[in-house]
Amino acid sequence: MNIVVVGAQWGDEGKGKVIDVLTEEADILVRFQGGHNAGHTVVVDGEEFIFHLIPSGLLHRGKVGLIGNGVVVDPEALLEELGRLRARGIDVERAVKISDQAHVIFPYHQRLDALEEATRAGRLGTTGRGIGPCYVDKAARSGIRIADLCNPEVFAKTLRRTVQEKNRLLQALYHEPPMSYEELLARYTAYAKRIAPHVVHGARFLREAMAQGKRLLFEGAQGTMLDLDHGTYPYVTSSSATSGGACTGSGVPPTAIDRIIGVVKAYTTRVGEGPLPTEFAPQLMEEIRRRGKEFGATTGRPRRCGWFDAVVARHAVEVNGCQSIAVTKLDVLDAMETIQICAAYRDGARTLDAFPADLGVLSRCTPVYESAPGWGSDTSEAGCFDELPAAAQRYLKRLEALIGVPICLISTGSKREQAFKMGSW
Ligand code: GDP
Ligand code: IMO
Ligand code: MG
Repeated sequence: MNIVVVGAQWGDEGKGKVIDVLTEEADILVRFQGGHNAGHTVVVDGEEFIFHLIPSGLLHRGKVGLIGNGVVVDPEALLEELGRLRARGIDVERAVKISDQAHVIFPYHQRLDALEEATRAGRLGTTGRGIGPCYVDKAARSGIRIADLCNPEVFAKTLRRTVQEKNRLLQALYHEPPMSYEELLARYTAYAKRIAPHVVHGARFLREAMAQGKRLLFEGAQGTMLDLDHGTYPYVTSSSATSGGACTGSGVPPTAIDRIIGVVKAYTTRVGEGPLPTEFAPQLMEEIRRRGKEFGATTGRPRRCGWFDAVVARHAVEVNGCQSIAVTKLDVLDAMETIQICAAYRDGARTLDAFPADLGVLSRCTPVYESAPGWGSDTSEAGCFDELPAAAQRYLKRLEALIGVPICLISTGSKREQAFKMGSW
């Protein structure tokens, strides 16, 4: 069975944790979009590991991870992460593969990311990792791919032309000092040598694996509401974080996908700018942020928090084709007296069940809340649905009814053991 896991909110839903649990039933793990803007946390044997570029299941022995063609790769970040995994005893030379069609992030992308943020009319609050500018170059057909990086002749020629162009932009538009072609060539040539042993033709690698009966697990980064097309544009990331991206970002056809699972938190968070209709007032924000440790895994920024938004979750189920949902961080709500669920939005006299594309409309909307009693007891030790307090069971059943698909996994803590499966995926 080949499974795609996607974030069904604004990222940080706990995808890393869910992937780590699901890895038991997979052979090959695939990242298909985004880059080291992602921060996916896995907690095993009391130790926390944060993955940025490498698939989150790789703490399991014997698995292989592929960084697909849809990912943008910062070689320095990749080598740092490979080093951390190696230090944990993982045979990274065997376990980590990189598609030769993935695009490469250069320091000028990072500089442009910062400069564009500083000069843009409305800040987006990007992670500053150069992700957007790298995808811009890809779409403009002036990017440099891993295959180009690893071919010295092609690389020297393409990099020279690109650095000239970027320096014109940096100097003329931003009055910034130019970057050195020679320095970049030397540094990235050294990276290429270290990366080369990992490079494969991604689509062919996966095709051959499937022919041998290997099971694929695709790991979405970011979330549906940060998807370039289906999210809260322009407050989005620059890639396809929805399930369709798993195919374009890996070269595996849609017909090979058996199952699509969306991940939601039992409440909502977002980091960076942009709409968050169910955002808490400051006091509750502080409390949930503290209980849920809601600080970015990549940038450390405090995450904005709000109630569960069923309009968002339904939108995610529809555009991804999710057949089931994993719910994480239920334990964070353990002490709440009353819990609110946003069932729909109200726009004047109108009730909206679907997420509007027009952010002007969205800004007029107010959430229509249902109130549910809290359970006031610890869920972190629950080993199955029946062991949850009755009010928690009712809360989850109500989420299921509002979202329209069954819950397949419930997580009540950050550790690997603190999760249980419900029925089939
Ligand atoms: P991702 O980007 O979707 O992989 O999520 P992050 O790793 O950025 O953020 C999720 C955070 O919640 C991490 O710190 C996880 O260790 C933690 N986490 C995951 N599942 C649970 C859970 O069920 N309960 C609690 N309390 N923490 C969780
Ligand atoms: P994971 O995979 C949460 C947000 C940034 C910003 C917007 C654009 O851990 O869920 P970018 O640097 O991508 O151009 O920034 O997207 N963002 C994330 N928010 N989790 C992430 O990743 C994110 N990756 C990007 O905060 O609002
Ligand atoms: Mg994250």
